[in-house]
Amino acid sequence: MALKIEKLSKAFGDLVAVNDVSFDVPAGQMIGIIGRSGAGKSTLLRMINRLADPTSGRILVEGVFDAPVDVAKLKGKRLRQWRAQCAMVFQQFNLVPRLTVMTNVLMARISYHPTLRSLLLLFTPKDRAFTIRALQRLDMVSHALHRADELSGGQQQRVAIARALVQEPKILLADEPIASLDLRNATIVMDALRRINREDGITVICNLHLLQTAKDYCDRIIGMRKGEIVFDGKPSDLSDAMAREIYGVGEHGAGEPADDDVELAFTATQTSTSAAAEPGHEKVAKVG
Ligand SMILES: Nc1ncnc2c1ncn2[C@@H]1O[C@H](COP(=O)(O)OP(=O)(O)OP(=O)(O)O)[C@@H](O)[C@H]1O
Ligand SMILES: [Mg+2]
Repeated sequence: MALKIEKLSKAFGDLVAVNDVSFDVPAGQMIGIIGRSGAGKSTLLRMINRLADPTSGRILVEGVFDAPVDVAKLKGKRLRQWRAQCAMVFQQFNLVPRLTVMTNVLMARISYHPTLRSLLLLFTPKDRAFTIRALQRLDMVSHALHRADELSGGQQQRVAIARALVQEPKILLADEPIASLDLRNATIVMDALRRINREDGITVICNLHLLQTAKDYCDRIIGMRKGEIVFDGKPSDLSDAMAREIYGVGEHGAGEPADDDVELAFTATQTSTSAAAEPGHEKVAKVG
C-alpha cells in the first residue's frame, strides 16, 4: 500500500491547522512526525484515518481497493473498509475499561463480519486465534481475561496495539503512543511498533513528542511547524539547527522563560526511549 498526500489542508474557522501539506508514503516505511504542540500533527493523522475531514487536498491510496482511491472522498462502506485498513493507536489507549482484554481485541475483528454477527458479538475460531496471536506478540496473553481497567498504562497500550493488529491493517497510525508512559513501557511499546513494521511490513506513521525517539526508531522524520512541513528526510539528515527550527527553540522573547515542553522534547536525549540504550526488551512481539 502506498499513500500520496497532496496539498492537504484543514482549517478550523480562521485557524489553519494543516496547511497545504504534500508527501508520499511508500509501503513499509516507519515515519515519525515531530513538532511542537499545535503544529498540526494530530490533525494530519486524523485526516488520513478520516476522523477529521480535510478542508481541501487529496489522500490517494494505492493497493487497498481495486483502483487508486482518494480517501478524502470516501463514504459509507468504503470509508469503513479504509478505517479497518488504517488502524489507529492513541495516547490514551481508548480501550473499553470494563471489558476484558480478550473482548477489547476481538471487537476489532468486527469489520470482518456482517452486522448481525457483530451486534451479537459472535466471533469465529479464526477471530479468537488472531486475537491470541496478537496478544502473544505483545506479551499480553497472560492478561487476556483481565479487565482493561486493571492494567497499567503500558499494558493497556500493548493491548491497544494488539487490537490494531487484528484489524489486519496495511497502515498503523499512532498519535503520541508513548506520551503517557514511563521510560520502560515507552521502550516496550516503541520496540513493538518497530517490530510490527519490520516483520509484517505494516507502514507506521507515529506522532512523537521526543525528537530522540523519532531518531532512534524511524526510517524517516517529518517535521511540522505551524501546519506546514519544514523537514522531511532521514534522521541522520536532521541537523541540530533544523531541529531547533522545527521546535522553535530560543524563539521566546528576550527575558521570557523557555517553553519547558519544547526544551524537553528537544533536549531529552538522556531519558529517551533509545532501543540501543535499553536492551532487554527483546521478548516483545517475537512470538508468531
Ligand atoms: N477540533 C478542533 N477545533 C478547533 N481547533 C482545533 C481542533 N483540533 C485542533 N485544533 C487546532 O489546530 C491546531 C493543530 O492541532 P493539533 O492537535 O493537530 O496539534 P498537534 O501538533 O497534534 O499538537 P500536540 O503536540 O499538542 O498534540 C491547534 O492550534 C489546535 O488548537
Ligand atoms: Mg497532537
